[in-house]
Amino acid sequence: MRILVTGGCGFIASNFIRFLYKAMPDVFVVNVDLLTYAGNPASVRDVAEKYAGAYAFVQADIADKDAMQALFKQYSFDAIVNFAAESHVDRSIHDPTPFLRTNITGTQTLLTLAKAFDVAKFLHVSTDEVYGTLGPTGKFTESTPIAPNSPYSASKASADLFCRAWYETYGYPVVITRCSNNYGPYQFPEKLIPLMYIKARNAEALPVYGDGTNVRDWIHVEDHCNGVWLALTRGTPGKVYNLGGDAERTNMQVVTSILDYCNKPHSLIRHVTDRPGHDKRYAMDFSLAQKELGFVPAWTFEKGLEQTLNWYANNQQWVGDVTSGAYREFAKLWYGGRQ
Ligand code: NAD
Ligand code: TYD
Repeated sequence: MRILVTGGCGFIASNFIRFLYKAMPDVFVVNVDLLTYAGNPASVRDVAEKYAGAYAFVQADIADKDAMQALFKQYSFDAIVNFAAESHVDRSIHDPTPFLRTNITGTQTLLTLAKAFDVAKFLHVSTDEVYGTLGPTGKFTESTPIAPNSPYSASKASADLFCRAWYETYGYPVVITRCSNNYGPYQFPEKLIPLMYIKARNAEALPVYGDGTNVRDWIHVEDHCNGVWLALTRGTPGKVYNLGGDAERTNMQVVTSILDYCNKPHSLIRHVTDRPGHDKRYAMDFSLAQKELGFVPAWTFEKGLEQTLNWYANNQQWVGDVTSGAYREFAKLWYGGRQ
């Protein structure tokens, strides 16, 4: 089976490629990645070497129709799993433009070619953030209305709607997964958990937006990969499946756990200016995926967090390599104005 994985040098898709080789010994993976600031070939170096005969890497933009067409011609894909995206809410607030190109035009380009080349399966990876925000109770279900609040989630919601249109208009068999906040090895350290770990380890101030009572439903990346795999192999065309980790935590709970792991004082926490449009709470009802796909998250948050922080502690070279130039410029710009 030939599978096109987009964004395979990013956090979740690099873990997914690793997962695929275990789940499907006869798979051939083509990893297309533009290698933006968030893409790092070192995140897949081990599998690229181990499975060299069953792996190809192409540096290209998923929104570049000519480049994608050449790829679809070269390989007859059996399936596409679309992870490639601009993924950071704060960056989308600063400059939404690349989010429109990659997340919307990129997805539409892949859908167009997948239909033209008759690719049998298309799994689009989306997010719970398309549903907007929750109050203190309740959970998102697949029939919660789409109500994105950030430029990032607006671009992801738009891509989801194109996937829906491809199914409704052309009968093209797309499946969408919407997942909650991921954590685990190889996450770019602009996101909460690795960012706070690196700051705690260096005894620097930890910038918590607002009062830190915002809640996220955390899922270990391996559980997300399993959910995507189950949806790819067992999902019903045209359907959306929610995936979550059953682990709601406030940002303060997460940040204090990281400080405790590092044996650092809670006084390092700094409450800084809140993120504009900051969603208060996310929580996923994933009972449909449980019933139809057999999806159940295996990691508890406490075990997963410890494994993740151990990974960062043991992979400081990887962290040093990815937190160079472009990353530092954005961090200076974004956090410089937050007191
Ligand atoms: P990431 O930012 O770590 O990785 C994104 C990858 O996409 C990078 O390797 C980057 O180089 C590549 N890329 C960006 N623009 C591209 C383009 N135009 N063409 C080809 N490649 C391009 O992202 P992530 O956190 O691994 O997220 C992966 C997917 O999962 C995204 O679609 C995201 O919306 C979704 N998702 C993420 C989370 C989360 O908590 N991180 C939760 C739910 C859903
Ligand atoms: P993030 O990891 O950016 O994921 P998302 O915005 O997609 O949920 O942020 C997770 C939570 O942590 C969110 O409520 C914002 C908060 N946060 C901070 O308080 N400080 C920070 O420096 C960052 C990056 C996030």
